[in-house]
Amino acid sequence: MTSSPSPPGSRLASRLGFSDRVFIGPAARRVARTIEDGLELVETGLAEDVRVADPLADAASRYLYEAGGKRIRPVLTLLAAQLGDGNTREVIDVAKALEITHLGSLYHDDVMDGADRRRGVPAAHAVWGNNIAILTGDILFSRASQLMSRLGERAIRLQADTFERLVLGQMHETLGPQPEDDPIAFYIQVLADKTGSLIAAATQGGVIFSNAPSEFEEPLRVYGEKIGVAFQLLDDVIDLSAKPEETGKVPGTDLRAGVPTMPYLLLKAEADAASADLAARIDDGVALIADGADPAILDGPLDELRDHAVTQKTLELAHAWTQEAIDALGPLPRGTVREALTRFAETLAERSS
Ligand code: IPE
Ligand code: IPE
Ligand code: MG
Ligand code: MG
Repeated sequence: MTSSPSPPGSRLASRLGFSDRVFIGPAARRVARTIEDGLELVETGLAEDVRVADPLADAASRYLYEAGGKRIRPVLTLLAAQLGDGNTREVIDVAKALEITHLGSLYHDDVMDGADRRRGVPAAHAVWGNNIAILTGDILFSRASQLMSRLGERAIRLQADTFERLVLGQMHETLGPQPEDDPIAFYIQVLADKTGSLIAAATQGGVIFSNAPSEFEEPLRVYGEKIGVAFQLLDDVIDLSAKPEETGKVPGTDLRAGVPTMPYLLLKAEADAASADLAARIDDGVALIADGADPAILDGPLDELRDHAVTQKTLELAHAWTQEAIDALGPLPRGTVREALTRFAETLAERSS
């Protein structure tokens, strides 16, 4: 029985905020339905793959998976795979492994960022403490490796190279730019490494493991990496402007913890006195918070940063990276998949949570 009250593609549309316009016509509807089917396989597979025999480890490893998430990476793997043989077992395994890698990185990231909430629920470290959160991330990375090992050396290498880059991105973010580094270029590189790398692996993996023409691999890799950067730049804007009930996060979490974001870096590069004064007040607030002051002391300065031109400039940068991602799809044949990837990038660039 496949009776469903919603037209094909509409569940996907609502998950991604895709316009129904993308899926008009029989060919587009077929692609939408195939991706829906693939997502179901990924979803039921993930529920199994994050399960652990040990009860405490099981509760912790299922915790953030069950809390939700947009499943951006699996959708991209599935979309890219429609350039080849579609939802093969290998494609589903790669999609799951990369989503589990992403999931594990969230457990670690929230410890590192001191972030209290994730996916609308308390962060894992807020429930179980840092050690369990870190170890749960490690279990999930092991699970991702186990899945990839079924697919052979190319998959293992994709996973390992991607993970190393992701970790280096997180490490560089933690260490910050060195005196010889340009802070803004350094930051963009961090975004490409910590987030772009995994999204690039998702799109590239979709090409490789669906046996799509190999000349599509590099365009899809570049596309994924660039939407990853755009996505993070947009995150910096959303972090300042969004409502907690939409994002599931406390606004300004990263900045309050002293993690610089693009609006702040652009503010530091501004020459006028008002910008310098705002930057100094943010720095003072961060120092006080580090000494135990209430993070709410930065509410006012962060409101000012949100309304400053540098935040609009960050939004424009995000849109420029989105356009570059779309341009990278040039070598693909015109058709439903390219259209959907284009629309996907545009939809990400328009998101508000
Ligand atoms: C959040 O990624 C973490 C980053 C790498 C920026 P997502 O926004 O894709 O997180 P979920 O999976 O939807 O929760
Ligand atoms: C997360 O980056 C990157 C990884 C998990 C590798 P952020 O720290 O900027 O993302 P959020 O805001 O916590 O989702
Ligand atoms: Mg974070
Ligand atoms: Mg982080």
